[in-house]
Amino acid sequence: MAELYEQLNPPPRLLMGPGPVNADPRVLQAMSMPLLGQFDPDFTGYMNQVMELYRGVFQTANHWSFVVNGTARAGIEAILTSIITPGDRVLVPVAGRFGQLLCEIAERCRAEVHIIERPWGEVFPADQVEDAIVAHDPKLVAVVHGDTSTTMAQPLADIGKACRRHDRLLYADATATLGGMDFPVDAWNIDAASAGLQKCLSGPPGSAPITINERVAEVVLRRKHIEQGIRPEGFNPGDGEMIQSNYFDLPMLMDYWSESRLNHHTEATSALYAARECARVVLAEGLAARIARHERAGRALSAGIEAMGLRLFGDTRHKMHNVTGIEVPDGIDAAAVIRAMLDDFAIEIGTSFGPMRGRVWRIGTMGHNARKDAVTNTLAALEVTLRRSGYAAPAGAGVDAALAVFGDS
Ligand SMILES: Cc1ncc(COP(=O)(O)O)c(C=O)c1O
Repeated sequence: MAELYEQLNPPPRLLMGPGPVNADPRVLQAMSMPLLGQFDPDFTGYMNQVMELYRGVFQTANHWSFVVNGTARAGIEAILTSIITPGDRVLVPVAGRFGQLLCEIAERCRAEVHIIERPWGEVFPADQVEDAIVAHDPKLVAVVHGDTSTTMAQPLADIGKACRRHDRLLYADATATLGGMDFPVDAWNIDAASAGLQKCLSGPPGSAPITINERVAEVVLRRKHIEQGIRPEGFNPGDGEMIQSNYFDLPMLMDYWSESRLNHHTEATSALYAARECARVVLAEGLAARIARHERAGRALSAGIEAMGLRLFGDTRHKMHNVTGIEVPDGIDAAAVIRAMLDDFAIEIGTSFGPMRGRVWRIGTMGHNARKDAVTNTLAALEVTLRRSGYAAPAGAGVDAALAVFGDS
């Protein structure tokens, strides 16, 4: 099979789905830089820079801000598995697939999971979460900020206040929003948060930025057990139960990311370069400017969709800036439209999961792709694809409405 030995040459694509999105070219360039040894002083210097850069991106003073090697769920697992001791009560508000994922991970940590639910497309009022805190007495509240499956952004400021009032830990999954929507960890009283690179940070999947504050550090350090081969003489383990996972053991990761550099895994060098460049690009642009760019791109796409006579999914007051859900019109085959967009225009868009599969399309405007040309080209391609599938939108209306948001040239 000759093609097995051909050089890898992926086709050009405009990735306008819910993620991954096209990496910023500067991130791809950073990934091609020479490898260094994991204890090379230049490399450990980059690790320290990564910590400082992600403090900026997470808007936190938390010392413990670093990356976990693995996709976004690696960050989730590291935090949940290190905080949750079997039998702990955990409260999870669920209004989409990624809320369900938090439940599933917490269950695997042997938590007693208490779920509150709302229909997909809605968000929780803070007092519903507070009532559940009172009713279920959880150690931890775990919530998704932007649930990509429904395109809704859960307001967190008041939930953060409620958690502090009742002295509960709050974890938030910002995989799909960090770097594209405001996510001020300290101002919102979030104790632990995690993300991935492949959405608004415009990097490759495979690194999970996380941050934890001292409240969480205290909880997890009580469970500190250092692996045998690297255990310093005289080390006394914490009195808490050993964390089930070696790879996701936060206290061991914290040692590796501290000046003691106690060896754990081999840090994924090129992924670290990517994570560093993603954060550098975000902060060089300016968080506020970047969030405004995402907001404008999302608003332009939504305006274009509505001008085409299509309906946006869910409670649009709480729509994420950076992912837009679109109801599939009756009689249109959602999958065929997705396929034709890819075949005819090299543009990827997505559908969703579970009850929304085939009922909505999801279009992302994230990171490097939160741009005028990406939005207008997607709308133009969608208009043609829909017309060929039997849904005639007013000609040019989608692109015109988007251009009006961007300010006509
Ligand atoms: C909100 C949210 N959380 C978690 C994940 C899981 O991320 P990963 O696939 O990088 O593990 C995703 C992926 O789309 C997501 O959107």
